[in-house]
Amino acid sequence: MTEMYRTAIVGTGQSVANHLSAVRALPEDVELVAAVDTDETRVKAVCAEHNIPHWYTSVSAMLAAEHPDIVQIVTPPATHTTLAIECLEAGAWVYCEKPLCASLAEFDRIAEAEQRTGRYVSTVFQWRFGSAAQHVKHLINTQALGRPLLGICHTLWYRNEDYYRVPWRGKWATETGGVSATLGIHLADLFLWLLPEWREVQATAATLDRNIEVEDVALATVQFENGALGSIVNSVLSPRQESYLRLDFQQATIEVKALYRYTNDNWRFTPRDSADSAIADCWQIPNDISSTHHAQLAEILAAMAAGSRPPVSGLEARRIVEFLASLYKSAFTHQPVLRGSITPDDPFYHAMNGIPRTVNLP
Ligand SMILES: NC(=O)c1ccc[n+]([C@@H]2O[C@H](COP(=O)([O-])OP(=O)(O)OC[C@H]3O[C@@H](n4cnc5c(N)ncnc54)[C@H](O)[C@@H]3O)[C@@H](O)[C@H]2O)c1
Repeated sequence: MTEMYRTAIVGTGQSVANHLSAVRALPEDVELVAAVDTDETRVKAVCAEHNIPHWYTSVSAMLAAEHPDIVQIVTPPATHTTLAIECLEAGAWVYCEKPLCASLAEFDRIAEAEQRTGRYVSTVFQWRFGSAAQHVKHLINTQALGRPLLGICHTLWYRNEDYYRVPWRGKWATETGGVSATLGIHLADLFLWLLPEWREVQATAATLDRNIEVEDVALATVQFENGALGSIVNSVLSPRQESYLRLDFQQATIEVKALYRYTNDNWRFTPRDSADSAIADCWQIPNDISSTHHAQLAEILAAMAAGSRPPVSGLEARRIVEFLASLYKSAFTHQPVLRGSITPDDPFYHAMNGIPRTVNLP
């Protein structure tokens, strides 16, 4: 890459550290020119600590003064769509935290703004970008392991009442969903990206042990277009925490056990009994890149240099939004939901709980 791109970070709360590390890891490619937060004390403190040259309390003011090439959005979920569209309209690409938006309707507004501006939005899904996941995707694309038949995708995490004391969490209007939309989304995105297109989901969700509006546990059964079956469990009620993904192919089982990040060591490959040596040998991962924000940012900058659509944008990003809308519709209606069946005349197109938002967001 030859060009040095200019980035700005919007939102300097808890998760800003991941984005600061991502920029720091790519010193030849990108420089951080500004940070924005509506909380002036916080943004000033972060800029002072990390030598960020300019701070702002308004995204519009930052865009007008700095003209960044890319903006990293790290604000609460319900603010993402408006901020992302404003950045696109100012000529910037966007690297936006998950969940990208509150509904399919919002996703389609972002897609329309991409088309209008010629700029792109990539959702942060760092789990796709570790070398092991990339290798699994390669094995699947080359059909090295036969057909995928069965998948298990468990996000069994623990979040106490303190976690939900942050005002935007736990509410449909501001968190935009529960554990499935904000935490299980990482592994579920990886699961749906690796396997063939999903066809149908049947889900159950409940709020069992936290004082919140959204679900603290959800279970889903998924059918894929090739006939494979999958099971997804998302929980914030699991004291022994684990993220566990398992894919059973005709020729081998692939598993990853980790919590928030993996390296190659977290993955395990088990060929079937008496599999030929070509199968056993295919688990040679050429490098060991962990699942970080910077691995994804590097690919976005490479796409910018090439003038092409970045990863985790467009239909590649819509899949998980549609899946979540369908999971919630199934949980609320107690009916299976087919991919493609949620259209603009459906209340679940407009909000994950089927009830359009009525509050004004910051
Ligand atoms: N990819 C990951 O691994 C990962 C991990 C944790 C959180 N996240 C995501 O990161 C996002 C932020 O989470 P967090 O825990 O840092 O939240 P946080 O509440 O700690 O910080 C959010 C910050 O955004 C600021 N803000 C709110 N609205 C704003 C606006 N319109 N303009 C500018 N600043 C604004 C707030 O003042 C606050 O400082 C969420 O979408 C969350 O889901 C991602």
